[in-house]
Amino acid sequence: MIIFNNGKYKSLHAATQGELDALESAVKKDQDFRPHFHLTTPTGLLNDPNGLIFDGEKFHVFYQWFPFDAIHGMKHWKHYTTKDFIHYESAQDLIPDEHFESHGCYSGGALLVEDKIACFYTGNTRRASDNQRIPFQNLAIFDKAGQLISKRPLLENAPTGYSEHFRDPKPYYSKDGKIRFVCGAQRENFTGTAVIFEMANLNDTPRIIGELAIPAFDNHGVFMWECPDLLNIGGKDVFIWSPQGKQREAHQFQNNYHATYAVGELDHQTFNAEQIAELDQGFDFYAPQTIANVADRTILLAWIGLPDLTYPTDEFKWHSMLTLPRELRLVQNKLYQQPVQEIYQNLTALQTIQLEEQVEIAHLDTSYIKFNANNAAFHLAFFHNEQGEKLTLSYDGKLLYLDRSHTAQTVWMQKFGRQRYCEIENLEQVEIFFDRSVCEIFLNGGEKAMTSRFFIRQRKNIVKTDRTLQLEIAQPKAIEIK
Ligand code: FRU
Repeated sequence: MIIFNNGKYKSLHAATQGELDALESAVKKDQDFRPHFHLTTPTGLLNDPNGLIFDGEKFHVFYQWFPFDAIHGMKHWKHYTTKDFIHYESAQDLIPDEHFESHGCYSGGALLVEDKIACFYTGNTRRASDNQRIPFQNLAIFDKAGQLISKRPLLENAPTGYSEHFRDPKPYYSKDGKIRFVCGAQRENFTGTAVIFEMANLNDTPRIIGELAIPAFDNHGVFMWECPDLLNIGGKDVFIWSPQGKQREAHQFQNNYHATYAVGELDHQTFNAEQIAELDQGFDFYAPQTIANVADRTILLAWIGLPDLTYPTDEFKWHSMLTLPRELRLVQNKLYQQPVQEIYQNLTALQTIQLEEQVEIAHLDTSYIKFNANNAAFHLAFFHNEQGEKLTLSYDGKLLYLDRSHTAQTVWMQKFGRQRYCEIENLEQVEIFFDRSVCEIFLNGGEKAMTSRFFIRQRKNIVKTDRTLQLEIAQPKAIEIK
């Protein structure tokens, strides 16, 4: 075991006495923004969900974690297990302590192989002489109880033809039962792609199969594909990934980077896409990953955040959270997403509230609300404080837009814009999960989703409306962590 401790490349093994307790005290000073029913980091920075798997009894949820500050430093995999996405138990984390992960355990996925959890991940390393990044692809084996059994490097460096940006292996079984994994990559000519590997078994050395081609995807300007995920829903192939550099459009792909999906058919390495779209149109959503081995359902989690963003909670030494687990369905080749049934089952009884002009609603900031827009325009303003801050959601019959201009922003948040739009005709059902500094919005039973952070201190739980609406409201159950 090597104890890394070099500036921000410091592992948990190097934590000094009382250091984590001091960080936890800093986090506790945040009175306004810590979520109740979203999984968030105890301290430091959280990013991508990793290693998501169902072991036959419970789910394993890992995420990218830098424990010591709200910055991207030495990445660990924080590890929890859960049966219901409400009660979580801490399991053994993946801590960088080998030469093949000297600068962090970067993202990857898991596969259940017999009774073992095989976690494929990128070992980020930098050469001492010139700081050149050398990516390893590694394998860590956990047992179902969540204990680490072993880890080893599988591949050193990117294959010929690719730059140092070669990472995020996501394993899956091929249609003929082989172990495969797909990595996000940048070609030497600075274009983004994904590369597939195959192994006969976990002791094998991976061999390269080739690039995944998606002819229908406009890769213009795209310099890197991160976090690829190949899966199958009801007989259709689905590819989910996070391309970087895609051109922004007026009403979609509005962030700096985007989580995207393609639905179609995978023919060898060619993905014949019948549909390509953005997965979520809110301000903060990236690096989604699915749990593909649960009978009859596909569950997705994502990072509610984006690379390069800072948030007002950084001063309290915590940054970001994961989305609620979402079940994916295909409806006419479109990917629909809605929180899993466990989240709905754990809501308090729905209460109906007549919304006229202005209403105060107890616990609005940790609530689930639902209403029918009847395809007519509305303008809603949520949470007000003395400084006139509020979050607004409006619909004009074609376009829904979320506006966080009148909320606290960091410079980086402002840089990325103040409104997010979503084109949707025939808007019927609107569902919103508010959790203190985050909202997840689902339209028409998951046809579109918008996930965003927002920061309003000392807020009043008030809604103002320009139209009478019948709201149904309930409280989701808070997460418990042991
Ligand atoms: C995506 C990402 C991955 C990488 C990880 C590092 O957010 O950049 O490509 O493995 O985060 O934390």
